[in-house]
Amino acid sequence: MKLRRCTTIMFEPREDVSIDFNAMLAGRTELSTATTWFALAAHLEQAVPVSAEQRELLGSLSSRQWTDASDLGSHPRDWRPLLEAGLLISDDDAYAAHRHSDEGMRDGHWWPLAALAHRHARWSGVNSAAQMRDSNMVTARDLRRQLGAPPPAVQVHPGTYQPLPAVDATDYDRLLERRTTCRNFDAARSIGYGQLAQLLQRTVKAQAVVQVEADTAFLKKNVPSGGGLHPTETYLLVQRVDGLAPGLYHYHPVEHALVALPRQCDRPLQDVAEAMLSGQDWFANAAAHLVLVPRYARTYWKYRNHAKAYRALLLDVGHISQALYMAATEQGLAAFVTAAINDVDTEQVFGLDSITQGPVAVVGVGWRSETLTTTEFDPNQVIWPA
Ligand SMILES: Cc1cc2nc3c(=O)[nH]c(=O)nc-3n(C[C@H](O)[C@H](O)[C@H](O)COP(=O)(O)O)c2cc1C
Repeated sequence: MKLRRCTTIMFEPREDVSIDFNAMLAGRTELSTATTWFALAAHLEQAVPVSAEQRELLGSLSSRQWTDASDLGSHPRDWRPLLEAGLLISDDDAYAAHRHSDEGMRDGHWWPLAALAHRHARWSGVNSAAQMRDSNMVTARDLRRQLGAPPPAVQVHPGTYQPLPAVDATDYDRLLERRTTCRNFDAARSIGYGQLAQLLQRTVKAQAVVQVEADTAFLKKNVPSGGGLHPTETYLLVQRVDGLAPGLYHYHPVEHALVALPRQCDRPLQDVAEAMLSGQDWFANAAAHLVLVPRYARTYWKYRNHAKAYRALLLDVGHISQALYMAATEQGLAAFVTAAINDVDTEQVFGLDSITQGPVAVVGVGWRSETLTTTEFDPNQVIWPA
């Protein structure tokens, strides 16, 4: 069997502080600190604890050239667990799954630090809403009480600030004023098919296709995109859109068309949405959720191992979400965006592989309820008059 190190790996010493029970038995209160080294790999979901010998062994092996297992100076006790965990890659078919995901990350031209940050920030089964409630971190006052004062809301530089004129408001200003993140959707009211179509048309539809070669096309959209590559796909979880069966869809930005995905949800769609949204029940009953999913390879085709490429991918999603807010607001609808999503659960719902593509944010749209149950940030009382 041949072995090599996985493509992207970094080591992190983690400190675990606990009560020293020996000192406690002797009547003293002392804390003891234990340090464990963890290996973080770009193709693995979890950090893997490693010994000093294992760390050295991984550092001594190439990620490109194979080494015969029989030529390893190390004891199998050291390398076998690394192979099982996926930190060592093998040519043996028994370990093909780890090899394929490692090759996927390698061939995807990820910048290593971005790959690690991306992989290890993915959530599965997190309930951020419950965590927030359990730790009494719900309101702004809760945050202030528990965390102390934040850095000031405005950074003031020395010198005299030159006043700017307050320009008369236009319809555009009045539209901007009405954009408020919605946390109270009307769970009984559907949005129109045409409304959904218009939202997509204004935000993620291709307004032009520039065909450079037979196999190379660039899209013009109403939102900007790093390198003009528009890597972000739009998947939909539809609950209440007139003329559209509830379910899962993918949007084609050139055809301006939706295809129903041949996937079934084993739970009510609102529960599926709530799980994707890490328990944020105030968002789960939007009429339609748009899951924004970059295809990494599209951007990394141009920006190979590029330190700014991942940042551009995330910024692209932010632009789309603001455009969706504005398009929804203009129709009298309400919208939200969240990055607090269970990536892994969302990938499973839509059948995304996580190596070539994955969700970054979810945007929801629908009619706003007439009743305010969950707080919205509307200090000027534009949406919720006193
Ligand atoms: C990237 C991003 C992530 C967000 N995530 C959440 C979220 O997880 N939960 C939530 O209730 N609101 C979320 N929001 C909405 C913000 O809380 C909201 O924009 C902020 O409170 C200001 O309110 P406004 O959008 O009504 O002006 C998010 C907004 C952005 C831009």
